[in-house]
Amino acid sequence: MNTTAKTTEYPAPKIIRSVREMQNLCLALRAQGKRIAFVPTMGWLHDGHLSLLKEGRQRGDVLVLSIFVNPTQFGAGEDFDSYPRDLDRDAALARSTGVDFIFAPVASDMYPRGYATYVNVEGLTEVLCGASRPGHFRGVTTVVSKLFTIVQPHVALFGQKDFQQLAVIRRMTEDMNLPVDVLGMPIVREADGLAMSSRNSYLSPSQRQQALVLSQALASARTLVAAGQRDASVIRDELAARIGEMPEARIDYIQICHQSTLQSQDVVDTDSVLLLAVYVGKTRLIDNGFLFDRTSGRS
Ligand code: PAF
Repeated sequence: MNTTAKTTEYPAPKIIRSVREMQNLCLALRAQGKRIAFVPTMGWLHDGHLSLLKEGRQRGDVLVLSIFVNPTQFGAGEDFDSYPRDLDRDAALARSTGVDFIFAPVASDMYPRGYATYVNVEGLTEVLCGASRPGHFRGVTTVVSKLFTIVQPHVALFGQKDFQQLAVIRRMTEDMNLPVDVLGMPIVREADGLAMSSRNSYLSPSQRQQALVLSQALASARTLVAAGQRDASVIRDELAARIGEMPEARIDYIQICHQSTLQSQDVVDTDSVLLLAVYVGKTRLIDNGFLFDRTSGRS
């Protein structure tokens, strides 16, 4: 990752810990007619997050970043405890993009004693990452709906690397009539193609090299489609063989799905998206991409 905090003219963002204070502030900002742009994260910011913040800076009068490692979206045995956390580092990076407020609540304020309400999107959440991480999306939609209620954003920005998460949040926002524009932003990649992720920091140098197989698999799938291959199972088998050559890689899933319904497809078409989840060592990495060139409409 080449993220560096650059010296800028922006003042340091104000860090707010209290749910009540953040909500009161955002309600007051809205009452003054300010447009609020919001980027929810779990911190350990990288250039992917910074691209969301830079876009958010253009889209709002006030830019709010949340940093909260949300316990309800982690399953037993997942990396909740080891997830990287460094608020000072993140605040410096956030400053470089002009963030006004960082909302960094504690779990006991987000989920106080007696907390009992969860938001669940059906259908979209039972496949792909939802199949391997039961309860994960329930935690995501619960926290995002709470964050929307606290921060009162006009627009919220999410990365397309979490393609399924974005689809689920869009569904929830529409179904619950939440007055928020949900904007998906392109995946940001390292120079060698690895999709940026806070979890890349877990990889050893050799695993980091092996992790390139995800973006390489995506490129191979596009090449196959460009050459006329439309059989999803043939493409999946080719990719599985390629990923299987990496000594520390273990496939969670390789799926070709319709971009909106996330239903798996047997035949590739212009709505097809390839989604991958692969463990490299103990680190679970995801990546995705369309299989047709979406600018020309041709493969
Ligand atoms: O994508 C993430 O970082 C998290 O899932 C989110 C959306 C901030 C909810 O905790």
